[in-house]
Amino acid sequence: MCGIVGYVGDKQAVGFLLEGLSKLEYRGYDSAGIAVYDGASIRVEKSVGRLASLEEKIEGNMPKGSLGIGHTRWATHGRPSDRNAHPHTDCTGDFVVVHNGIIENYLALKEELIEQGHSFKSETDTEVVAHLLEEVYHGDFEAAVREVLRRVEGSYSLVFMSRQQPDCLICTKKDNPLIIGLGDGENFIASDIPAIIQRTRRTFILNDGEVAVVRKDSIAITNRLGEPVTKKVFEVNWNAEAAEKGGYEHFMLKEINEQPKAVRDTMSQRISKDGNSVLMEELKWTKEYLNSFNKVYIVACGTAYHAGLVGKFYIEKLARIIVEVDVASEFRYRNPIVDENTLLIVVSQSGETSDTLAALKESRRLGAKTLAITNVVGSSIAREADQVLYTWAGPEIAVASTKAYTTQLILFFMLALYMAEIKESQTRERIGQLIGMLKNIPAQISETLSDVEPIKTFARKYGFNEDVFYIGRSLDYDVALEGSLKLKEISYIHAEAYAAGELKHGTLALIVEGVPVIALATQKSVYEKTLSNIKEVKARDAVVIGIAAEGDDELQKYVDHVIKVPETDELLIPLLTVVPLQLLAYYAAITRGCDVDKPRNLAKSVTVE
Ligand code: F6R
Repeated sequence: MCGIVGYVGDKQAVGFLLEGLSKLEYRGYDSAGIAVYDGASIRVEKSVGRLASLEEKIEGNMPKGSLGIGHTRWATHGRPSDRNAHPHTDCTGDFVVVHNGIIENYLALKEELIEQGHSFKSETDTEVVAHLLEEVYHGDFEAAVREVLRRVEGSYSLVFMSRQQPDCLICTKKDNPLIIGLGDGENFIASDIPAIIQRTRRTFILNDGEVAVVRKDSIAITNRLGEPVTKKVFEVNWNAEAAEKGGYEHFMLKEINEQPKAVRDTMSQRISKDGNSVLMEELKWTKEYLNSFNKVYIVACGTAYHAGLVGKFYIEKLARIIVEVDVASEFRYRNPIVDENTLLIVVSQSGETSDTLAALKESRRLGAKTLAITNVVGSSIAREADQVLYTWAGPEIAVASTKAYTTQLILFFMLALYMAEIKESQTRERIGQLIGMLKNIPAQISETLSDVEPIKTFARKYGFNEDVFYIGRSLDYDVALEGSLKLKEISYIHAEAYAAGELKHGTLALIVEGVPVIALATQKSVYEKTLSNIKEVKARDAVVIGIAAEGDDELQKYVDHVIKVPETDELLIPLLTVVPLQLLAYYAAITRGCDVDKPRNLAKSVTVE
């Protein structure tokens, strides 16, 4: 899980390489490096730590040249260190490579290469690629790269550079993302669009197995068999600022505040003119098609999994179809019962999460129909699935996912309504009424976002507690899970979410005087039961922050503080209750001085198991 960049053109490569890497640090930030061809040899500079350490190291002595590659790393094989940082070179220094992914057969290859006399400088899997390239090079750079690709197993996006042919970079990918930005007299390579967006909006998105020879004024792409491939230019429709912080201190806060727009974008083109129907142009499902499924699985990781839990609730409640939800890393190894009567829905913001992608591939192999809910157009998951619903949330840069979650909820809600309409499991009036309430959600999120001062106060007051508990029933429990994940991942506070009714089966033992408990109580059918659970924790002197809908005058009698969100249908309320929980996590992390956008040990895109 790393970020890679490449430059070929007339300008000094180092400018783009450092700029591009800074936009890819969300993919990994434990070390960084660049390699630039200076007209005679390739100069490699690398440094453990953030990109800033590398910049400091080369300040005043920047590598000069207009062909270069760069890398920002998130360690898998070999701990973060200068020598494990990329780029990696062969014995001669003539071949240099940057890599995102894992070379699975690297130990066997390494042994073989050592026997052939190669000496290794790092503990990484990637270094074998550089030595292998040296070994198989017989005067034709591209042919040598192809031979390397025949020998390596695993997942990768790779950019190769050679002193033997210093007019081009060669890049390829398998199961990891790679794009080429098309410039004027210069071209760019990157793991993701934010890296190139300040230079160009015109891109080629590489597919697995494609090999691109990128020169300053030409790009030749061939497939696995070496046959030429004609690519369509993909025009990026985000603007450069969308990939920047836009005046906010952190990407996370910016993305939390972008939610009204993001959810509006997700829903706006999917509602009929009369406001009574959901339009899913991408799907065009029929009653027969829906009836052909005897099983629906939702599979995802982390926050996307939490969105899946809400999705299950929506589909079961509105479309009356049984849904099972699983985390991808469990699902893929439990020999799930999947066949042609299965609908598999995978959810992934990045569209690159390796476990989710693997679950998708396996289910397709077993005959399932597959639907992806993702944010990244052209991502691996989007390309692998039979059908795709894009969240259209815009780039999500902060490691902690926020607007991806709310837009995924919107899509699940709309998908459930769409299914309900086809199955006639809800009346037209009810569907129209729910769509009406859905349309109010962007404004209601804005309203929730405007009341941030009490949340800042709670964060300052309780931000130094070591444990926080989240409780709720039904949909409130699903949101509690997401709230607790947000808190722990960015503030490092130990946070646990419990189904409120489960508390007394063990966890109540941990509730002692002064422990903060965040209690969500918005679901009418279980409201009284939730109140009893709140009384249980209050009786143990917990400090309770209740989350309720406007119009609820009851909850405040039993809790220490209340945060209210606007009233809506209780199905839609997770879209509102999650917002104060995101903000609470954010301000708790700020209170504790944590690096919000780059929490320790985590990276945005988990492309390894
Ligand atoms: C938490 C978070 C992660 C991701 C998970 C899946 O804030 O961001 O839990 O949700 O890694 O990522 P995607 O959605 O890209 O598959």
